[in-house]
This record gives sequence, structure tokens and C-alpha cells, in this order.
Amino acid sequence: MCGIVAYFGRKHAQPILIEGLKRLEYRGYDSAGVALLEKGAFNITKTPGRISALEENLPEYESDSTVGIGHTRWATHGQPNQINAHPHVDYTGKIALVHNGIIENYATLKKWLIKEGCAFQSETDTEVVANLIGYFYDKNQDRNGRFAPKDCNRFEWAVQQALSEIYGTYGMAILCVDCPDMMIGVKKGSPLILGVGKNEYIIASDASAIVQHTTQAIYLSDGEMAIIDSDGFYTKTITNKEVQKELKEIEISLDQIELEGFDHYMQKEIAEQPVSLETCLNGRVDVKNGRIILGGVSQYLRELTRTKRIILTACGTAWHAGLVGEFLFEQLARIPAEVEYASEFRYRNPILEEGTVVIAISQSGETADTLAAIEQARDRGALVLGVVNVVGSSIARLTDAGVYLRVGPEIGVASTKAFTAQVAVLSMLAIELGRRRHLSTDAVQSLLRELMEIPAKIKRILAQTDYIRQIAQANKDHENWLFLGRGFNYPVALEGALKLKEISYIHAEGLPAAEMKHGPIALITDRMPAVFVATRCSQYEKIIGNIEEVRARGGKTIVVATEGDEHIKPYADHLITVPETCDQLQPLLTVVPLQILAYHAAVLRGHDVDKPRNLAKSVTVE
Ligand code: G6P
Repeated sequence: MCGIVAYFGRKHAQPILIEGLKRLEYRGYDSAGVALLEKGAFNITKTPGRISALEENLPEYESDSTVGIGHTRWATHGQPNQINAHPHVDYTGKIALVHNGIIENYATLKKWLIKEGCAFQSETDTEVVANLIGYFYDKNQDRNGRFAPKDCNRFEWAVQQALSEIYGTYGMAILCVDCPDMMIGVKKGSPLILGVGKNEYIIASDASAIVQHTTQAIYLSDGEMAIIDSDGFYTKTITNKEVQKELKEIEISLDQIELEGFDHYMQKEIAEQPVSLETCLNGRVDVKNGRIILGGVSQYLRELTRTKRIILTACGTAWHAGLVGEFLFEQLARIPAEVEYASEFRYRNPILEEGTVVIAISQSGETADTLAAIEQARDRGALVLGVVNVVGSSIARLTDAGVYLRVGPEIGVASTKAFTAQVAVLSMLAIELGRRRHLSTDAVQSLLRELMEIPAKIKRILAQTDYIRQIAQANKDHENWLFLGRGFNYPVALEGALKLKEISYIHAEGLPAAEMKHGPIALITDRMPAVFVATRCSQYEKIIGNIEEVRARGGKTIVVATEGDEHIKPYADHLITVPETCDQLQPLLTVVPLQILAYHAAVLRGHDVDKPRNLAKSVTVE
């Protein structure tokens, strides 16, 4: 949610910033801007809209500035117009910054600064930070009237003074016209990475904007700052204590973040699933001995096996994976489990009895609500494990231990390959706990054999893409859809509805199929497609009954069924088949045709599926 990038080096900064912003555009895309430090002033271009609009508005000559900051915005405070776009400059014109996060006490600070004579241009919380730094820099005094120590750098000191006044979250890159040989990055609650190249430094919200230039990086922790100057860089806390940070290797490669011939990242990521799942499972499943090897959590498996209750917490698609996880832990390990929306859990004063284990699920590892839920759980003494994709992300670092998804960067805003990997990881965990508690070796081996066959089975589903596109074509103009499933296919129905609504802007509702009778059946007409996930599993006969109820009322059905199921044919206006698997692993297959259906419905309706309106990939604000 908002992407920031900043360059300090010897090359022209502008093209590097624009390229970086394009890589980060999935984080927000309602307005964008860059500020270049040149000849003792800021050269700023800002515009509403996408990075392409920003490019069109850049001056015709390419600036030869080698220091600059850039931002792509997902608006929180103030409309996405030019004035509210970042970078923001302070009232003296000396400080410019870009910000990802939310300043919670901005209104109080703004009032005080206005009283002190600072003028504001925008409605943003960010401009308050710019003015606050500018104020301390300008006055050279802190709020108690004490002068800045003589031996300190005034810019660095002013940043620290301002940060000591702020409550909230931030990842920021900050420049000062008086210090053209200096750039400051600060982090608290929003991601920030410092890429360290040869005579060049790039600060960015994530590694995708850095990896083209260097694979060496410093991952700042909350409350830390990086100061880059002509001699190199140093790191300290925002309270001015020195900290030594380790250079780490960025683990993503350039080809992982390229489209590689696909029209959209979502399309690429759907197609990648056989390979991404194989990578996720690789080396973790020992079918012969009926074992799962998950190095990241091995030291906590004993505690997990004995736990009385598992709470899964997440947002969005990851929450749907968590719901599958709830069913898996209950059925396979016979451990009471429940999934919680992180945004609700964090404010509910949750009761966590001793021995409860919390599992936080997140693709980005940066979702603000999930992070806050983890903090709640940790404060109450729970063991917190993470199921995370982005290596080194905030959630990966905040949890006691965890399992990485290993699916590479997911860039399309609508999550696809992360969902299947989240379900695969939760399946592995549940099978291993089941093995330790009561499952027979035969049962475990059979589950593991099924699990290992999933990637090849997904390939068979992908082979039906053209056919599924035709179904999307035939139904794309309907403005309301229902998605229905039972048992393990109920979370898939929720996920199918979410996929469709978020990228095609069609209203879609997901439900446990039997609940339809308690209200939604009133909506059924021949203009409201009902998508049934009705594979041959334990509740097959029951869901056939639900399909009949819809058809009896003139409803049109799109049915996802098991390959070779002749019996179901008359119940479907459109039939999509998936290979057979056991009940518990159904979601890994049945979600795939729904991803493809949503993708094509959105493309056929003419939408930009990778950047759906109002959404952002990584929700780093509440
Ligand atoms: C946003 C994304 C979703 C994602 C959710 C949780 O809403 O658009 O695709 O499922 O955040 O994100 P996380 O990174 O925590 O999985």
C-alpha cells in the first residue's frame, strides 16, 4: 500500500525511479510523483493516475540529477489528486519526503504547526511529517527550546526530533536541499529495504525495485534509520543509538518479476501453480516414510502436537486459506481450530488459554491488521507461527517461527499462487500433526501421495483454460453471481467469489451451499449464475440437492465437478471438471478453474486485472 523508491548514486536518478515505481505500482496506483535534487532545489513532478501518466508529465529533458525520491500512492488521507500526491515538501522548501504508512496523530501535530506559522498545501498526514522535520531543521531547536548539539548533523537531528513526535507507521525516504550528499531512510511498521550497490544505494518498499541494480540489501527493523552519504552509509535507531546491520542477499531474481510473455501477472501466476506448488512441497514431503519435514517449525512441533487450540489469523485470500486450515487441523489432527479475521481479532481482547498456538498467514508478510493480531497474541504469551511468502518480511520476523511458501514474488493484486501454497503448507502441517497424534502410516502415506500428485493435476485443469474462457464469455455480462460449496469446497466458494468481484467488479457472493435456502435463494433468476463446487467428496449427494433447488427456480449453473462424473452432467449448464483427489485436498484443485474464470471475465469486461480499482496488493494500513 503505497510504494516508495529512492536513489542515491552516480547514475541519472529519474529513469531508475520511474522503473522502480513501475515495479512497485501493484502497491498503489492512484497517483505518483518524483522529486530530484538538483542545483540546490527540488525538481518535482506529481500527477494523479498511473506511473504512465507521471512519465508523460516529466519534463522533456532528462534531468542529470543523481539523487531523488519517488512514490506511487494508495490514498488514505485526502483524494488522489496532484496536491496530495507525494513527494511532499515542507514550508521552507528544504525538506522533501515520500511516505508509506499512516501518521495517527497528524491532526494534533498539524494544528500545532499551523499555530507555529507553518503553511500546508495538502490534506495528507505525510505533509505534517515534512513540516515537522522542516520546523526542527529551521529552528534548530527541539520542542523544549534546546538547541541541536553542535557536533551533530542538523538534518539527521531534525528527522529524529520529528519522529519522536509521531505516532503511527512509516517507511520514508527523506532529502534536504542543504545536504545534497545525504539521503535518509526510516522505518516503523511499514517495509523498507536499503539496496547497497557499487557506489549507489536504493531505498525501496520491497526488493522488486532493487534487484535490477544490486542483490545486496539491508532490511531495516522498526525504529531504525539508514543514513547514506558520500562516504557510504550507516544505520542507527531513531533514538540515535548505533546499530550494525547485516548485508543480506535478495532472494528474488529479475525473471521472477517479469511478465515473460503473459498479458498479466495474474495470468502468469495462475499458470505457474504446478511449478510453484512443486517448489513449495519440494524436500518437505517424505512419502516413503510418511513424514513431513518443515525445518522452520521443527523445534515447535512438540508444542503444536500438544496444543489444545489453534487460532489461524489472516486477511482476504489468506483468510480463506486459513478457513481451509481450520478444517484440516480439525479433521486430520483432531485439534480444535478456528480462523479469525486479523482486523477483528486485534480489537476483541481475545481469550488465549495457555498452550494456544496462533498461526498467521500472509503472502506479503506486511499486512497491518495481521501484524497487529500477531502482536496481540504475543502479548498474551501465545506461540505464534507464520505462513508467509515474502522472505524477511515483517511478519516473518515478528513470529516465533514459520514456514515460507517459496512461490516467488506474487505481483497480481488478486492472490492466486499464494493461496494454493498457503493451503499446501497448512495441509503439510495438519498431516504431520495428525501423524504425531493418531493417523496411521497408511493414511499419512496416502495423503502425501495425493499431495504430491496435485501439481500434475493442476496442469490438467490449466489445459481447459480456453474452454473456461468461453464460459466466462457466455456469462460475463451478468452483474450478480453466487458461489456455493460444502465442506472443504466452502472456502473455495468464498475465494471464487472474491476473485470475481475484486477484478471484474461483478457482485459475487460465496456461501456454504445449504445456507442458500436461508435467504440468497430469493435472488435466483436466470440472470444470476450460480457456480457450484460439487466434486465427488463426502457431501456430494447433499450439494446435488442444492443444485436441484437452484435449477427448480430457473437458475443457471456453472458446476465444477470431478473428472468422469457422468451423473452430474444434467445438473450443469456449464460443466468444468477437475481430477479426483481426497476430500481434504480438494481446494488445491477446485480453486484453479475459479481463478481462470474470474481472470477471463475481468479481461473480457476490459479491466486491468493486475491493478483493480481501489485495491492494493499489500495492505500496510489499517
Ligand atoms: C489484500 C490483497 C489480497 C490479500 C490480502 C491479504 O487485500 O489484495 O490479495 O489476500 O491483502 O494480504 P497478505 O499479504 O497478508 O496475504
